[in-house]
Amino acid sequence: MSDAAAAQGPQLQEWTEKITEGRFDGKNLIVTGAGSGIGRATASRIVREGGRVVGVDVSRERLDDVAAELGERFHPIVADITDEEGVAGIVDAAGATIDGLANIAGIMDRMQPTHEVDRALWDRVLGVNLTGTFLLMQAVLPRMLERGTGAIVNVASEAGLRGSAAGAAYTASKHAVVGLTKSSAFMYANSGLRINAVAPGGVATNIEGTFASELGAARVQRGMALIPSIAQASQLASSISYLLSDDGTNLNGVILPSDGGWSAA
Ligand SMILES: NC(=O)c1ccc[n+]([C@@H]2O[C@H](COP(=O)([O-])OP(=O)(O)OC[C@H]3O[C@@H](n4cnc5c(N)ncnc54)[C@H](O)[C@@H]3O)[C@@H](O)[C@H]2O)c1
Repeated sequence: MSDAAAAQGPQLQEWTEKITEGRFDGKNLIVTGAGSGIGRATASRIVREGGRVVGVDVSRERLDDVAAELGERFHPIVADITDEEGVAGIVDAAGATIDGLANIAGIMDRMQPTHEVDRALWDRVLGVNLTGTFLLMQAVLPRMLERGTGAIVNVASEAGLRGSAAGAAYTASKHAVVGLTKSSAFMYANSGLRINAVAPGGVATNIEGTFASELGAARVQRGMALIPSIAQASQLASSISYLLSDDGTNLNGVILPSDGGWSAA
């Protein structure tokens, strides 16, 4: 990158996705947040590598659009992952044999420090990012344990690794996703399961990144000044599909930063 480009802030990375033919042949996976961004890119990668994907989102319109692109190996399910009935419907649609779960659906907070967070926002962010992730894991785990195989990838964040990347609610939710991932990886390590997380840095998606706090903006923007580059959603799909696939063999309890090096700063 030239000095002039660096002065303009982080640039979108250039890269060309390369499919691994047949990597998910015969595999059946659930991907949440499949209507947009990282979830959509992950569902697309798995389907193009031979897998069947039950793609979950709250937005029917987004899912219809993805289904039109991906065809018959993509099964859209409109559901809210915070709703237990919705989660039961997702797992029913997936059937008895579930090879993988990618917990990607998530929402941002408004970059507010603790004393400015209102209860409704706290409950919503923790509800989607943490409880939704937990509910999906709890629903698929018995089926994976019965077969003695399965891979789960949760999506944490740079905000799951440090305190300077978002507001209090989002940061707490993503640190908790890291804890849930590690506890589960440890608990099921002798049961044939692999449970890992990816911690994205900046990614170009539809996620809302509003600043509703002067203090939050001033502090978080300092942390963001160290972002080396912005990734494409397909780059995150590459990291997530790697951990979901058999190429991730021997990886369990890993929190993989996929951030162009931001976490090394
Ligand atoms: N984009 C980034 O810079 C970035 C950085 C770090 C982590 N992440 C994480 O990556 C994940 C994916 O985010 P993205 O950037 O692709 O966002 P996105 O907004 O483009 O996509 C998220 C999708 O999840 C869906 N969703 C939201 N709440 C849901 C719910 N309750 N039930 C079902 N679906 C729901 C949304 O409708 C949306 O289609 C999130 O967990 C996010 O926290 C993103």
